[in-house]
Amino acid sequence: MTQNARAVGNLKQHTIWQNGHAPEPCTVVIFGATGDLAQRKLLPTLAHLWHDHPMKESFCIVAFARRPMNDAQWQATVLGSINKYMPEDDRLDSEAQRGFAERLFYCQADISSDDGYHKLSALLDTLDHERGTRGNRIFYLSTPPELDPMIIAHLGSSGLAQPKQHSDGQGQAWTRLIIEKPFGHDLASAQKLNSDLGKVFGEEQIYRIDHYMGKETVQNILALRFANSILEPLWNQKYIDHVQILVGESIGIESRSEYYETSGAIRDMVQNHIMQVLCLTCMEAPVAFDADAIRDEKVKLLRAIPLFTPEQVAQRTVRGQYTAGVVDGQPAEGYLEEQGVNPESTTETFVALKLFIENWRWADVPFYIRTGKRLPKRSTEVTVQFKRVPHQLYKLEETQGLTPNRLTIRIQPDEGITLKFGAKIPGAAQHLASVDMSFSYNTAFGIQSPDAYERLLADCMMGDSTLFIRRDEIETSWRLIDGITSIWQQMGPDTVKPYASGTWGPDAAQELIEQDGRNWDNP
Ligand code: BG6
Repeated sequence: MTQNARAVGNLKQHTIWQNGHAPEPCTVVIFGATGDLAQRKLLPTLAHLWHDHPMKESFCIVAFARRPMNDAQWQATVLGSINKYMPEDDRLDSEAQRGFAERLFYCQADISSDDGYHKLSALLDTLDHERGTRGNRIFYLSTPPELDPMIIAHLGSSGLAQPKQHSDGQGQAWTRLIIEKPFGHDLASAQKLNSDLGKVFGEEQIYRIDHYMGKETVQNILALRFANSILEPLWNQKYIDHVQILVGESIGIESRSEYYETSGAIRDMVQNHIMQVLCLTCMEAPVAFDADAIRDEKVKLLRAIPLFTPEQVAQRTVRGQYTAGVVDGQPAEGYLEEQGVNPESTTETFVALKLFIENWRWADVPFYIRTGKRLPKRSTEVTVQFKRVPHQLYKLEETQGLTPNRLTIRIQPDEGITLKFGAKIPGAAQHLASVDMSFSYNTAFGIQSPDAYERLLADCMMGDSTLFIRRDEIETSWRLIDGITSIWQQMGPDTVKPYASGTWGPDAAQELIEQDGRNWDNP
C-alpha cells in the first residue's frame, strides 16, 4: 500500500492534523535513537504518522548517536524495529517501508563534543537543500535524563537551538525541543532542568511530553465536562461525595530496575500522569481551548492542593511493595527478587493517598488516588461518586442492591464511560437495584483512536503545545510530591507495606478508605 492510500481509502481512519492540513516540512532529530523507547515507540509511531496521514514529501528523521553505523545500516535497524513493534495487521508493506527508509539518516557523533553538533548542523543544512525540509527542526531527547543538560547546552552553543531563516529565504523557520519524563527527580532538580532549558530555548519552543495527555480518553475528560451542560452543575462539593483515580498495572517493573529504584511509584506515576488526570478532572473551565488558557487552569488547580503535614503523610498516604504472587494466572516474583533491585530496597511499587483541593468547588471532597504495579489488572479510571439522595423514601431492605450514583471514566482499557444509577426491579415490591448506562469508544465511533505518541508528535509538528506540560505545572506538582517524599524518608522501612502480586495493594490501602466509610471501586 502506498503512502496515504490507507488514510484516503479508509473512512474509518481518524484525522490527526487539526485543521486538515499537513504540517510544514521538517526534520526530526532523535537523541538516544538506538535506545529502547525510540526503537519500541518513537520510530514505529513516526512511521505510522508518515504512512497513515497525508504529510508533505519533505520529512526526514536523523538519528544522532555514538554507535558507529551508516545510513543503510540504520535504515535496516529501524525497519527491523518497526516490523517487530508494530502489530502484524498494521505493518507497512515493502513499498512503504522503502519510502520510509529513504527518510532516515544517521549522524554518528559523540553527544559531548562540539564537533558532533557541527556535523549535525551541516547534515541538517544539506537536508534543507536537498530534501526541502526548510530549516524546521524538532529535537527529540529520548536520552537518559543525566545527559539532557549536556545536550541542551550543546544545542545552545552550536546555534542549533536558534530558529533559522527558511532555507529559501522566505520567512522564519521553527525549532522545537521534545523532552521525555522524568523532568527531574524532585523540585530542585526540575528547577535546574527548567533553568538549563530556559537558557537555550524559549518556553514556547519546549514540548515536555506526558504521554497520558496524548490519550484520547484523557482529553475526553475535558469534552465530557465542558461540552455538556448536564454534568457541570453537579461537578462540585455540593453533589460529589468523593473522587477516586486508579492507575493500575498488572506488569511489574520489567527490565527498568535501575530507573525504578530511584523513582518508585510516586515519582513514576503520581507526579506526572495522575496529576494530569486530576487536573483535567477538577480544573475550572478555561477561557479558551488553547495552550495557555488550559495550562493556566491546571496550575491554579495544583496550587490549590495544600502541602501535606508530617501527620497527614502518616495518616493519608500508604506505600506498598509487591511480593511474589500470581498475576493473570502466572506466578510472579517479588520486587526484591527482580534483577537489579537492591534486596533491601524500600522503593514503593504502590501508592495510595487521600488529598484535598482547597478551593470553592472542591472544599472537603476527598480525592483517593491509587497506583501500583502487579495489581490484578491493567486499568486506569476516574470514579466520581455522587452524594446520596437527601431523603430516602425507600426502606432500607428495599435499597440493599443500591449503590450511590457513580460516574466512571475508563481511560484504559475498554475505553468508555459508565453511569451507575438506581432503578426499580420489575415486580410488585418497591425493590431497587443499581444499573449501568454505558458508552464505549469502540462501538460508538468505530474508529481507531490515535496512539498517544502519534497525537503528541503531530501536535508538536503543528506547533500546538496544549497537551504538553508547562514549566510551572511541573514545578508545582513536584512541590507537592517533595512534601510527601521528604517525610517518607524519615519514616522507618516498615512503613513500606508488602502486598502479594495480583492483589489490590496492602491492607493499609483498604483501611485508608474504609476508615472514611467508603470503598475502593475496583474494576
Ligand atoms: C510510564 C511509566 O510513564 O507509564 C511506566 O514510567 C508505566 O512505569 C507507564 O508502566 C504506563 O503507561 P500506560 O500508557 O501503559 O498506562
